[in-house]
Amino acid sequence: MSFNPILAPFPLGRPRRLRQSPWVRDLVAENRLTTSDLIWPLFIHDQDKPREAISSLQGVDRLSIAEAVKEAHAAKQLGIKVLALFPHLNSKIRTPDARAAIDPDGLIVQACRAIKSEVPDIGLLVDIALDPYTDHGHDGLLRDGKIANDATVEMLVQQSLILTAGGADILAPSDMMDGRIGAIRRALEQAEHQDTLIMSYAAKYASAFYGPYRDAIGVKALKGDKKTYQMDTANTDEALREVAIDLSEGADMVMVKPGLPYLDVVARVAETFQVPTFVYQVSGEYAMIKAAVEKGYMDHDKGVMETLLSFKRAGATGILTYFAKHVAELLKA
Ligand code: PBG
Repeated sequence: MSFNPILAPFPLGRPRRLRQSPWVRDLVAENRLTTSDLIWPLFIHDQDKPREAISSLQGVDRLSIAEAVKEAHAAKQLGIKVLALFPHLNSKIRTPDARAAIDPDGLIVQACRAIKSEVPDIGLLVDIALDPYTDHGHDGLLRDGKIANDATVEMLVQQSLILTAGGADILAPSDMMDGRIGAIRRALEQAEHQDTLIMSYAAKYASAFYGPYRDAIGVKALKGDKKTYQMDTANTDEALREVAIDLSEGADMVMVKPGLPYLDVVARVAETFQVPTFVYQVSGEYAMIKAAVEKGYMDHDKGVMETLLSFKRAGATGILTYFAKHVAELLKA
């Protein structure tokens, strides 16, 4: 940013004039949050009950497919454009080879079909990764205790095709395997799914902030960590390389994740590439706000809005957040 050399000195210039009342603050606001900025993640379960509370994510429930359809109607009504779907599967279905991830009748495929038939014009984003389907909770297949990158990519391609056939609009590979965007894009072209969008979790960090999510999808005991595939918190140049690679392989949109601890990465990615750049306010960020509010340390709605606006200020095109429905209601009021 370059400064105007004729900025009036005090008392001719008084920056507080522009802050003196709500109307003038609104008039000069540089960034705004709208409902179109929001993507709402939903957890779908295969249990008989309509809803089940997630203890680490206060106010977020796992939903039956029927219940998810109702929420899709509500989201549509509020002006939310996209839902992101995540599965919670019975532990008997989780296997070392993650075969349920490529079941053409799997839970998320069924959820996509049900939502698309009842609420056709809401966008459906699906997570492409194996962690809800493996018994060990890693995003990839393990061979001798190590992540088998290329074998995993083959699974991710199958998973992508099956979900696309089920009606998913946006594939969001969250696995951080090398080469997966190109492999998925080529397979989509071959299957004549030219219009399927890819939002790559391009700069996804190995983060402590995913804890409540793992509880939400039912990962019990993750052995080790995800540091051989997710990024090191110390790096930002590497994030730019990851984004560049995914764009060159055919991603339409990219994502930075988590959000608040990585605002610098959001800003650098948005500025460098000028492509739709999303940010994921992850489960731990959500839980942290809820906990602070519960303790009486923070006002809920003000805290939430401040974090979401900070993503816009950093240059994000849109935000995945568990607060989406609540915020859409606030923005409508
Ligand atoms: C995994 C995946 C994760 C999240 C979305 N997809 C967690 C992980 O990588 O362990 C995290 C979302 C959140 O914390 O809200 N494929």
